[in-house]
Amino acid sequence: MSAHIIDGKALAQTVRAELADKAAALKATQGIAPCLAVILVGEDPASAVYVKNKVMACEQAGFRSLKATYPANVEPAVVLGKIAELNADPSVHGILVQLPLPQQFDSDAVLEAIDPAKDVDGFHAENVGALMQGKPRFIPCTPHGVMKMLESAKVPLKGAEAVIVGRSNIVGKPMAMLLLAQSCTVTVCHSRTRDLAFHTRRADILVAAVGQAKMITGDLIKRGATVIDVGINRTADGKLCGDVDFESAQEIAGAITPVPGGVGPMTIAMLLANTLEAAQRSAR
Ligand code: GUN
Repeated sequence: MSAHIIDGKALAQTVRAELADKAAALKATQGIAPCLAVILVGEDPASAVYVKNKVMACEQAGFRSLKATYPANVEPAVVLGKIAELNADPSVHGILVQLPLPQQFDSDAVLEAIDPAKDVDGFHAENVGALMQGKPRFIPCTPHGVMKMLESAKVPLKGAEAVIVGRSNIVGKPMAMLLLAQSCTVTVCHSRTRDLAFHTRRADILVAAVGQAKMITGDLIKRGATVIDVGINRTADGKLCGDVDFESAQEIAGAITPVPGGVGPMTIAMLLANTLEAAQRSAR
């Protein structure tokens, strides 16, 4: 039997329509248009596409957006100066620096320079700490989107075995915190994990966030499991694919997210949600 497909694209459209309504209400009642500022450094084509999609999503939801782009060899001080300017601008509610940054940057220092109240990525140490304490202020967009997808698919979380493959600050670690907060038993696997299959085959919920095309094959999945594919990779012939081998996985999984059309669209929807939240808080 084939798995239920969790349609992130459709869910994201619903969420974005709701956010557009709320943004219109904020504008009508308080005169505030939510505004996201995005900073892009360098010429990485994937990052450029992500940023373009984020800016477009803002426009469609009636948000304002600002985009600042810099060449790869820009002095970090210039970008830090821009962040200071955006921090001080009361009409800007969210600031996002697209990662990865070029080598000369200390990424942590850049993320720490963002006002935590405008850190809609949820990457500032203060916001990471708040999430860890179970009092999140901004939940990082990708894991936030995954939680919404699990909720919409009514996946039981309490006591479930959740296995995350990948330990990044952007996905793996915050994902672990969110699933833990919902009383999952959480295992985080990574490149040094001794027996990956042992862990993945016990997972009721398996989240793949490693950045390796099609590495999670059907034989690594427990029958009936929910499989969430965070990967965005390209095959040799240029097609988009996830970290999960969809063909073999869908035969075994109970529910699965596709790539494209799964987690990706939800990430952008949650970025808008965080930006609206920041704007609403600025009005209080
Ligand atoms: N690069 C890949 N994912 C992300 C993300 O969620 N936020 C930012 N700022 N950069 C990224």
